[in-house]
Amino acid sequence: MRSFFRRSTAFCLILIHFIYGPSLWKQLDPQQPSSLRKAAPYTTAIPLSKSCGTSKQIAASRNVTHTSRYDDMSILASEVESISHVPSRRQIIITYRGKFCIKPYVIGRLSGLDVSLVANWTEFSGNNDNTNPSEDGDGVHQLLGEYNVHSKGIYYLEIIGLLCNSLTWDGEYRNVCLENPSYMRLTDDSAYIYVDTVDGSLADAAKDDGYWKWSNSNSHLNTYTPLHTRYQPEGCRETKTELEDRCFFPTSLDRFLPYQFSLHPNVTTLIRDKAVSLSKMSPSTTFCFVGLSHAREMAAAVNLWLQRWNVTSSIKAINLDAQFPRVVNEQFIQNAIIGRKCDKTVIAAGQWSVGRKPPGSKYAKLPPTLFPEYREEVMNMISTLQKSGIAKNKNIFLRSIHYNSLGDVKLSCPPQDWRHPAVIDQLNSIILHLTRSTGMPFIDTSHIIGPMWDSAVDFCHYKNDSVSSAEALYVLEKLLL
Ligand SMILES: *[C@@H]1O[C@H](CO)[C@@H](O)[C@H](O)[C@H]1NC(C)=O
Ligand SMILES: *[C@@H]1O[C@H](CO)[C@@H](O)[C@H](O)[C@H]1NC(C)=O
Ligand SMILES: *[C@@H]1O[C@H](CO)[C@@H](O)[C@H](O)[C@H]1NC(C)=O
Ligand SMILES: *[C@@H]1O[C@H](CO)[C@@H](O)[C@H](O)[C@H]1NC(C)=O
Ligand SMILES: *[C@@H]1O[C@H](CO)[C@@H](O)[C@H](O)[C@H]1NC(C)=O
Repeated sequence: MRSFFRRSTAFCLILIHFIYGPSLWKQLDPQQPSSLRKAAPYTTAIPLSKSCGTSKQIAASRNVTHTSRYDDMSILASEVESISHVPSRRQIIITYRGKFCIKPYVIGRLSGLDVSLVANWTEFSGNNDNTNPSEDGDGVHQLLGEYNVHSKGIYYLEIIGLLCNSLTWDGEYRNVCLENPSYMRLTDDSAYIYVDTVDGSLADAAKDDGYWKWSNSNSHLNTYTPLHTRYQPEGCRETKTELEDRCFFPTSLDRFLPYQFSLHPNVTTLIRDKAVSLSKMSPSTTFCFVGLSHAREMAAAVNLWLQRWNVTSSIKAINLDAQFPRVVNEQFIQNAIIGRKCDKTVIAAGQWSVGRKPPGSKYAKLPPTLFPEYREEVMNMISTLQKSGIAKNKNIFLRSIHYNSLGDVKLSCPPQDWRHPAVIDQLNSIILHLTRSTGMPFIDTSHIIGPMWDSAVDFCHYKNDSVSSAEALYVLEKLLL
């Protein structure tokens, strides 16, 4: 009853919002009456997508196996029993059967005043108590994720299920198919939650790393709409098909228009002041970006800031080609990093390791690098850099690898390109652990890329857009420290 009352209150607020627009919305107190906040922890049910019911029926009527991919269902959706929200703990809990899917890989995103990913998913097998997952008992399987946004209020929630079972550390994954994108969404199309708890540490805006914020000025819309995952259905690669509905809506970039990266103006000013004072102190500074196309785009984005600040006569960003971490060897260090007089170097090589090698290129048909091999390559790269003597005084940084969106080559079965979030997460976890254990500086831009992970215009590169611009500024901040 309490839950019903609370949900109908929230529903009315949404109706009011759609009828009167955000101006009235802002005047409503997002705090619930205290009488509604007694029993703790309070949990609300989130409506499931139709795909869950459909997939369950189809799975029951045929011999589904967890290793196949189906055209008319999602194995993971067929297993989902419920999704719930625990506002006081900022948690989302997915309860599923665990018949086929033991360790699902899901992506959750909140959209409203902020855009933020539901993160740190961990799985539990336990008893039936939603709010207190335990590892004893059997029957119920749960995935528990956490979110953190800057403002209280109503947020749309979308959870998609990418994989029924996550990739294993040392397994071959070239033939592991993602769930069919048409059936990936686990939450109802307009599912929402009411956020009433915000982490106090986000309050100091001047110290904050920034976040994606809803901005009326950036949008033709003045109401929120759910930010659904963008993807490229099969056959939608050619621009001529873009006018078809089946291609237009899944691939459209319009969904990102209402959001702007918000950083306290003092932070931007501080970074600019540092660049200006560096340009006065030293006649020539070179920032080098090692990688391939993503490094080239980042150097371009950094140069845009340097131009804006009028410091390009003394500070420049260049890119140095290294497809794979193993390319960064002694010769590379000598010829490229030292040869080009890099003052600071940012290395991120991973896109080629797990991406599709262009047909006709030297590496065509090479399978994606297994995770233990990637770890080995990055480890060797770090020790070569450290032995060379140039990796000191915070001159060499490793950077997190960018998520790619679900383009057709990642969604085909088997995939032809493996740069989807389940794989990129593994690379980034390897880089994070190795940089920690070796003391290499690491620039993690996941808080900028993550919420917009599906926004790259070509489903791969962030170029000349608000993501690349925000990321370049963040990287500059670390280089100018
Ligand atoms: C499932 O497999 C079993 C044994 O392989 C077979 O007897 C049964 O007919 C199959 N059921 C369906 C619905 O395909
Ligand atoms: C996820 O875990 C990391 C590391 O513990 C933490 O810094 C981060 O805030 C967590 N994210 C969320 C959304 O809770
Ligand atoms: C931002 O900078 C202005 C001017 O330098 C200063 O007065 C103000 O206190 C700063 N704000 C914060 C939150 O640091
Ligand atoms: C940029 O710097 C140059 C000299 O370094 C100066 O002549 C020019 O006026 C500056 N332009 C702006 C817009 O500050
Ligand atoms: C970058 O985008 C802006 C518009 O957002 C456009 O005017 C400009 O020409 C673009 N630059 C490049 C190099 O594509």
